[in-house]
Amino acid sequence: MSADEQKRAAAKRALEFVEDGMTLGLGSGSTAAHFVDLLGARVADGLSVRCVATSEATAGQARRLDIPLTSLDELGSLDLTVDGADELDGQLRLVKGGGGALLREKIVAAASERMIVIADESKQVATLGKFPLPVEVVSFGARASVSAIEKMAEKTGCRGPVTRRLTDAGTPFQSDSGHDIYDCAFGEIPRPEALAVVLNAVPGVVDHGLFIGLAERAILGTRAGIREIVRPGRPDGKES
Ligand code: 5RP
Repeated sequence: MSADEQKRAAAKRALEFVEDGMTLGLGSGSTAAHFVDLLGARVADGLSVRCVATSEATAGQARRLDIPLTSLDELGSLDLTVDGADELDGQLRLVKGGGGALLREKIVAAASERMIVIADESKQVATLGKFPLPVEVVSFGARASVSAIEKMAEKTGCRGPVTRRLTDAGTPFQSDSGHDIYDCAFGEIPRPEALAVVLNAVPGVVDHGLFIGLAERAILGTRAGIREIVRPGRPDGKES
């Protein structure tokens, strides 16, 4: 199976967790797009769901497929979010934000009863950090914020170039919420929880791509078929 076929197989399996009447968070990126595509077919067949999109791109796809969209403010919370990831480890700690949607993705995931991550097998790593960690930063005073990110990250054993993300046209990338994205090429993140805490404390940092304690299940498409990882001991004590 190609990586794209693995993504679609993972998305198909995730669809089995969707029940009639659910409220859903729709992730962003190519793997989540497979899920939205398959969900659209189920909606066309009569499935009733109400969805919140994590990016304008996903919202556009959902609209084209006549998937009912609403806002998180309207619903307050969601039953299930299905989203992709740039990296995940065995404890279901994630790096997200490769598509620049990390802020809305994290808000939606945190407001969801359950989050399922779908990915091809290349996304599972022993240690997070090979994929540069995206950090969403307010434009005002960004240079000072980046200096603080570098200083604080070093305290947690992370060092490497922090670069402003550009579009393919070479212009500064802006998130759907109008912020800059900086990609932190740390190479390896030895203490993800500690890094998440210090990044959250930097003035000007809106959020970062470390998703810890949010995903309860990962569905990986692999050459040998579907592999699932379930995070033991959900903090709310519920069974997965
Ligand atoms: C977007 C994300 C995506 O989930 C992540 O980049 C994975 O994308 P893809 O499924 O295309 O590999 O976090 O902000």
